[in-house]
Amino acid sequence: MARRKDTDIVSEIKLLKKNKNAIILAHYYQTNDIQDIADFIGDSLALSQKAASNDADIILFAGVKFMAETAKILAPEKKVLIPDINAGCSLADSCKAKDFKKFIKENPGRTIITYVNTTAEIKALSDISCTSSNAVQIVNSLPPDEKIIFAPDRNLGNYVINQTGRDIIVWNGTCHVHEEFSLEAILKLKDENKGAKVIVHPECELPVRMVADFIGSTSALLNFTGKDDGNCYIVATEPGILHQMKKENPQKTYLPVPPRDSTCGCSECNFMKMITMEKIYRCLKTEKPEIYVNKKIIIEARKPIQRMLEISKKPGL
Ligand code: 13P
Ligand code: SF4
Repeated sequence: MARRKDTDIVSEIKLLKKNKNAIILAHYYQTNDIQDIADFIGDSLALSQKAASNDADIILFAGVKFMAETAKILAPEKKVLIPDINAGCSLADSCKAKDFKKFIKENPGRTIITYVNTTAEIKALSDISCTSSNAVQIVNSLPPDEKIIFAPDRNLGNYVINQTGRDIIVWNGTCHVHEEFSLEAILKLKDENKGAKVIVHPECELPVRMVADFIGSTSALLNFTGKDDGNCYIVATEPGILHQMKKENPQKTYLPVPPRDSTCGCSECNFMKMITMEKIYRCLKTEKPEIYVNKKIIIEARKPIQRMLEISKKPGL
């Protein structure tokens, strides 16, 4: 069978979107071609906000399954599609509902804050959701003596403890991409590129966070490189974000950090990269795979996400 030209697939996706009143929401960790065809690109928080308010009949989520589930929870009347149903997340997988229920029972009397990088079942067990953009803000919105459980990312959790000084018990989960960045490689890049600033996602391990000039979610890192007066950045997060950084400020230099195990070369998220243009085309055409979330879970899981979205609207917290 003849291979479709890139230009053909772009125009076919555009036509399908128009005919079906569909939008494509894409995370910054998607490949450049997908980011370029998306109607909206963002980090986890911005994508949840967009899923909660848009006029489309169909949302195609170019990201991983927990993100598409969050969109379905916020917009249950819409058809939510994901081009590859196996696009999971090592962090979400590290927190199973059965184990988490036990953890909550063992640590009673605590407000349960969970990162959106969780399954719908875990969200349904939570009081408030958060993302890496607003985790500190969410914790600071609670009375100072309120005790907290934070799950599933131990690095983000420890970063939040460090920023807020609050009584927080942290679930021991990690993202296999962000925990693997090489401190040695960062120090070498710093040495080779005098004046370069190290910018780090809070899902990274403490030694990497300790050498950071700036720590923030993917959107925060992008904003930082846009506003900062430097001209070279060592970037410790998934390298998909470099596409928008280069688009916004092509005159600057962005150096991705390799993982500790140099045999695998680069720090791409294999789950995010399961989504391809061809799969997006097929998914829009067939309207499959579709995301389904149990109705009872939708009702329970929506409460913590909406509480997060309300808190995120409040300035100055
Ligand atoms: P943010 O989108 O909140 O920066 O999180 C990064 C991530 O790992 C998403 O999978
Ligand atoms: Fe999950 Fe990490 Fe991939 Fe994000 S980068 S989807 S947290 S495995």
